[in-house]
Amino acid sequence: MKMQPPADLDAVRASYDAVADNYVDMVGDPGPWPRSALDAFAEEVRGIGPVLDAGCGPGWISDYLHHKGVDIWGIDLSPRMIEHARQQYPAVSFEVASVTELDPEAGSLGGVLGWWSWFNLPRNYLPDVIATMARALRPGGQLIIGTHRGAGDHPRSRCYGDVPVEWTTHLYEPEELTTLLIAAGLEIVVDIRLPPLPPSQSPQLIVAAQRPPTA
Ligand SMILES: C[S@@+](CC[C@H](N)C(=O)[O-])C[C@H]1O[C@@H](n2cnc3c(N)ncnc32)[C@H](O)[C@@H]1O
Repeated sequence: MKMQPPADLDAVRASYDAVADNYVDMVGDPGPWPRSALDAFAEEVRGIGPVLDAGCGPGWISDYLHHKGVDIWGIDLSPRMIEHARQQYPAVSFEVASVTELDPEAGSLGGVLGWWSWFNLPRNYLPDVIATMARALRPGGQLIIGTHRGAGDHPRSRCYGDVPVEWTTHLYEPEELTTLLIAAGLEIVVDIRLPPLPPSQSPQLIVAAQRPPTA
């Protein structure tokens, strides 16, 4: 389903353009538990169909999964993030887009990642984004979401090396995400609750869900 652009989309795009150069220098190894979730996701989905990294930033996770044999492409709201991704990982295809304007064909994808990239969506957009991506999954295909765990909506004014930004970080408890995923017709595969992963100070969360294999 195509959605109206969120009211703050231009501000969020400009903010990620502004932090992109610093962000590239700050990301590295995702750490053992997130890495193990990515490895399991790769193993589960690589034989099922193409995978969309929806909010890929500078593309390092797309590239990681590409090297695990996943047929993956990335999209991101920020043109500067996509410039970095294309420059660093020419073997993977990247496009500038908002996840809110995507409408992938039903049953066309093996997997979708919202890997720390959907927490800026206004809270009322997340159910439709999840439903759109869930509908696009083939049987057995998986949607994996990594995000900041907690309650409330936190406006941010400086981030990633004290760069001025204008966005809101919406925190989610695991049950809020699993409820949305189940409402979209998916089965929960795993729910991993993590402590803060620097540079973030909030606890973290990874939830994966699948379209039932026989559906
Ligand atoms: C914290 S970064 C994470 C990037 C990448 N997934 C990673 O793990 O490094 C958040 C990313 O989400 C992107 N983003 C935010 N809102 C988006 C939207 N509506 N559509 C697509 N990407 C979005 C930002 O541009 C930014 O690159």
